[in-house]
Amino acid sequence: MCGIVGGVAERNVVPILIEGLRRLEYRGYDSAGLAVLNDKGIDRARAVGKVQNLADLVAEEGVAGVYGIAHTRWATHGKPAERNAHPHISEDRIVLVHNGIIENAFDLRESMQAQGVVFSSETDTEVVVHLLAQESKKTSDWLQAVKNTLAKLHGSFALAILNKDIPGRMIVAREGSPLVIGLGFGEKFVASDQMALLPVTQQFIFLEEGDVADITKESLTIYDRQWRRLESSERPVVQSNLTNDSVSKGEYRHFMLKEIHEQPSLIAESLEGRLLPNGVVSNLLGPDSDEMLRGIEAIKVVGCGTSFLSGEVARYWLEYLVDMPCQVEIASEFRYRQPSMFKNTLMVFISQSGETADTLSALREAKARGFKTLAVVNVPESSMVREADMVLLTRAGREMSVASTKGFTTQLVAMMLLVLAIGKAKGNLTEEMAQLLVNELRALPDVLRQVLTKDGEIQQMAQKLALKDNAMFLGRGFMYPIAEEGALKMKELSYIHAEAYPAGELKHGPLALIDEKMPVVSVAPNDVLWAKLKSNLEEVSARGGELFVFSAEGMIDPSEFEHARYHNICLPITLTSLAPVAYVVPLQLLAYHTAVIRGTDVDQPRNLAKSVTVE
Ligand code: M6R
Repeated sequence: MCGIVGGVAERNVVPILIEGLRRLEYRGYDSAGLAVLNDKGIDRARAVGKVQNLADLVAEEGVAGVYGIAHTRWATHGKPAERNAHPHISEDRIVLVHNGIIENAFDLRESMQAQGVVFSSETDTEVVVHLLAQESKKTSDWLQAVKNTLAKLHGSFALAILNKDIPGRMIVAREGSPLVIGLGFGEKFVASDQMALLPVTQQFIFLEEGDVADITKESLTIYDRQWRRLESSERPVVQSNLTNDSVSKGEYRHFMLKEIHEQPSLIAESLEGRLLPNGVVSNLLGPDSDEMLRGIEAIKVVGCGTSFLSGEVARYWLEYLVDMPCQVEIASEFRYRQPSMFKNTLMVFISQSGETADTLSALREAKARGFKTLAVVNVPESSMVREADMVLLTRAGREMSVASTKGFTTQLVAMMLLVLAIGKAKGNLTEEMAQLLVNELRALPDVLRQVLTKDGEIQQMAQKLALKDNAMFLGRGFMYPIAEEGALKMKELSYIHAEAYPAGELKHGPLALIDEKMPVVSVAPNDVLWAKLKSNLEEVSARGGELFVFSAEGMIDPSEFEHARYHNICLPITLTSLAPVAYVVPLQLLAYHTAVIRGTDVDQPRNLAKSVTVE
């Protein structure tokens, strides 16, 4: 986590660094800081909280300089406090910012303290800057000192380092955390994500794991992990087609609301060029992918958070529609197990960012074990896209809100495309079913637009939920992961404690939690499980629980709930297999409005970050 930006230029880089940090705030917002080299030496400003606090501070103090580095922090070692904010300095001459975790920081710190080094923070990062200072005394070659320092570090890092004694030179290193170099005219920049640099350039070089770059305004030299000097063709310049628009809220109060409303058009876009009337185009996943899919015996889906839940929905589809054995695993758990798997298992890694450390490591582990890997990812320039054997982009555009919404629904669409591709390759999906699925996919944008018209009713419902401390979410079948997603959104945004259960499991324990204070939110589509779900809702109602139900039009008769304290919103959804994509939208809106009413920070909930690049 954390975001870093740096620049060597002829103009004052402070406004560029601040704007870059604002664009990286999704990576953490516990504190922010920057340092520039100017006639005062190292001029540093740090502030707890959001980038705006830092912006106010540098404006007040008039910090300016043509060489600088900056950081927005998601705290790992040491609480959010000014002393722990980056950049960190050693001996008033070396300054750096760091994204990642130095796993041997404790040991290094102990041995340095024994040598008399004084630490001013609790961070793992500070050991790196003091190590650099020590190593720089052993050699006059600054790059060699960096090399010797990096050799002592275990863990993951992206580093940007400045040295007051060699002011125009910035050294950066990537090991496990992303880093991109932006090329301007007579100036160069670095950042954790190209988005940070779009106001100044669209020309990027993506560093690879183990790379170190030695950067001045005029020159750029990149070395690989073996310290081999690379040719420019080995790390080519990429022209980005991203625009600045994607980081604006437009007419919306929050990114999250904008992103919820973008879903219909983005789903339409994500289908473009991929569908035929009776299925998907051939080789959807790349050359000869149909042939590969014909040979697979099982699928294992790996992801975290919301992305894990889209895999859970897809499992129902894969089993039911194309008879494909499927397991879904939380990436952080998968990595440390040795699951026995069929040789011909296709490993599918779902991630909005394509950078989540746990998922990325699981992907690498799967590749090392010889499995075919498919990345279902939103960010085309991400590590997972570069490293997986095959890629299915979800085309959601930039997702800024920490809470994933359009990321999730476009993942579901992508997974249904995968189902269709498997059905086509294996010939085990009937023509009628394939047509039905294609028709439902095509209908999705309009259905979602209809669902979004219920926003006012959902906002009313949120008024009631906002008063609660806990909430239970219920679903059955492929609506259970949707209930889980609803609960995840609710806790992440409103800080209400929310948990989801498969409705049938209620009587095996969770029913004990039901009383007049416990709201129960349920998604109740018109499917084969409705009769069963209805009984579960009645069980809740009979025990005084308050029901908040999203049902298909024409399903629920208020008089059916005798002791009803229930609130029902009818949704114009007649979809069958694709129903989960539509039912999650009211749950997104419910969590959004509940959070707004409770006054939480909707786009940047406390303690979280958009892209979790540490384990
Ligand atoms: O970028 P990824 O999809 O890999 O991220 C995975 C999770 O961190 C993410 O889905 C998280 O759970 C969201 N904040 C949920 O809204």
